[in-house]
Amino acid sequence: MRRLFLLTLLVFLTACSYQVKDSLLSLGYSEEDAVKIRELDETVQPYFESSYNKELLDVINEEGFISSNMADYIKYLDYGDIKTVINLVNNGYFDNELTQELFKDKWFILDNLDLYLKYGEVISDIRELVEYVNTSAYLKGYEDYKDADTEAGSLIIANKLSYLGDYVPDDLVNVDGSYCMQDGVMLKSEAYEHLKQMFEAAREEDYYFYISTAYRSYDFQKALYDSYLLKDSAEVVDSYSSRPGFSDHQTGLACDIGMPSFKFEMFTDTDECRWLHENAYKYGFILRYPEGKENITKYKYESWHFRYVGVEASTYIYENNITLEEYVAYFGGNR
Ligand code: DAL
Ligand code: ZN
Repeated sequence: MRRLFLLTLLVFLTACSYQVKDSLLSLGYSEEDAVKIRELDETVQPYFESSYNKELLDVINEEGFISSNMADYIKYLDYGDIKTVINLVNNGYFDNELTQELFKDKWFILDNLDLYLKYGEVISDIRELVEYVNTSAYLKGYEDYKDADTEAGSLIIANKLSYLGDYVPDDLVNVDGSYCMQDGVMLKSEAYEHLKQMFEAAREEDYYFYISTAYRSYDFQKALYDSYLLKDSAEVVDSYSSRPGFSDHQTGLACDIGMPSFKFEMFTDTDECRWLHENAYKYGFILRYPEGKENITKYKYESWHFRYVGVEASTYIYENNITLEEYVAYFGGNR
């Protein structure tokens, strides 16, 4: 009798276990998956019991998976690939106040996490910190520079970390004299087409703008930089003029815009200047060296220096109040 009871119990339990496995199989899990799931902590099993979930299967199969962290893995799955999320959760990054704030920043880049944590010890404002790290602003200009990506189209970057060498843009055109303060002004053709539209739109509203210089060759920039050295120390000159090979003007996409009767510094406080600052983005131009972003651009504020980047980028940069450096760091340079 006792033996019969035990046998019945065994049959019953086996049937139950098959039934459970079967329910997983009927959801689409393989026999192997089902066995694996059943070996897991019982708090984890329910996640698999209502539907087939490939992503969660990948989670439990990933190296480093810890059952007790399952709820957090699920919560943070959107933060990166599974390996990264497991690593971040296991290391307690989501329990850390700084990383929690960082994850919320719109331009947070996961690969920069260690650098954010490092510079987070000195920069407390999260937006400033992300911007600083994303743009490699901690590097030493003119020492840690790389060759510029000259294939990046209108998003090419020339700055103290990005060197153009003797690069010459391929489609420079002459800017009509009626838009210039002097002869021989050249821009890349796409930038020029947009500049004309911008200047014409401004004229409709009775604002008349003129370019002093736009494209500058390596040699031109060298002569200019050297001439500044005659009156200011190298440190001061470096705050307002690029060294040859590093100038935004050498891209053929930049221009200094003002009015002939005004020195550039005085242009800042005019209605014309305000019009330009509010409208240039509609024509693909951005203010290249904005006020308050000197730690990123590494140049003093220049209310007159505009740079063509294309309408998509200019609109984004204008609306989000970021620099070209940060835009390219986040989105890449070939759009
Ligand atoms: N004034 C800007 C920074 C240049 O020299 O290119
Ligand atoms: Zn300029």
